[in-house]
Amino acid sequence: MTGALEVRGLSAGVDGKEILDGLDLVVSFGEVHALMGPNGSGKSTLCHVLTGKAGYRVSGQASLEGEDLLALEVDQRSRLGLLQSFQYPTEVRGVSLRDFMIEAAEERGLSEGEALSRIETEAARFDMTRFLDRSLNNDLSGGEKKRSEIFQIAVLRPRMALLDEIDSGLDIDAVKQVARAVEEMRAPDLGVLMITHYNRILRYVTPDRIHVMIDGRIVDSGGAELAEELEAGGYKAIRERLGLIETSSEPARRPADFFTDTPFDVK
Ligand SMILES: Nc1ncnc2c1ncn2[C@@H]1O[C@H](COP(=O)(O)OP(=O)(O)OP(=O)(O)O)[C@@H](O)[C@H]1O
Ligand SMILES: [Mg+2]
Repeated sequence: MTGALEVRGLSAGVDGKEILDGLDLVVSFGEVHALMGPNGSGKSTLCHVLTGKAGYRVSGQASLEGEDLLALEVDQRSRLGLLQSFQYPTEVRGVSLRDFMIEAAEERGLSEGEALSRIETEAARFDMTRFLDRSLNNDLSGGEKKRSEIFQIAVLRPRMALLDEIDSGLDIDAVKQVARAVEEMRAPDLGVLMITHYNRILRYVTPDRIHVMIDGRIVDSGGAELAEELEAGGYKAIRERLGLIETSSEPARRPADFFTDTPFDVK
């Protein structure tokens, strides 16, 4: 099958440590998938390996629209339309967000005029206008950095967006704004893999599928009921149901204990 992100038997490791362990995942265009998993299960590593970050020993298969991603350089993967938003966006002094975005948009074939017009439109939508002339991510709060990431994705309009904890550190209004942006970005030619620890974003984004990743593999996939099972019993419940032996140092508490989830009903 082509026309999707297809990952088959993907393994990856660094000096003696295996992180991804024969991972299988398919995200079709037009769909939003959520990926949940305990700290250290390999979610960010999956994004890094797919986008081509150096330093990992990689085996298995990964393709986008039938193109073998693992055979391509980082910039070629990005030109194919594979884009990652970062869990920890880096600060770059001396390069303004506007110039950075113009260059990134031009690399994807937009004229400077088209790039500028999209930048202005999306900046207004994500309340980023006042950050356009500041150095990329410099001295932005955690939440502002995340908003900047989703703004960049909205400008660049990828084919497959890997959103790594786009909702972490956001206040409740910003979570709603980011969730709405993800829903608005939905398009027949865009796939989204959204990594999250929090059920709260799933109140505003309805993923087509939720995947649970443990120890470098997708161990279960399903609908909203999976997120509810996690909220109620944590990864321990999933492990017990699937007969998985605990090997990593997961927190003994339920994930819900860590949620900054707010009990009030936000419309
Ligand atoms: N370059 C590296 N060198 C050594 N260990 C690494 C490297 N990259 C990742 N790891 C380890 O691999 C495991 C998976 O890391 P990863 O960042 O993918 O987890 P994660 O699922 O994104 O976790 P979190 O929910 O905390 O963001 C962790 O134990 C991490 O310490
Ligand atoms: Mg991570």
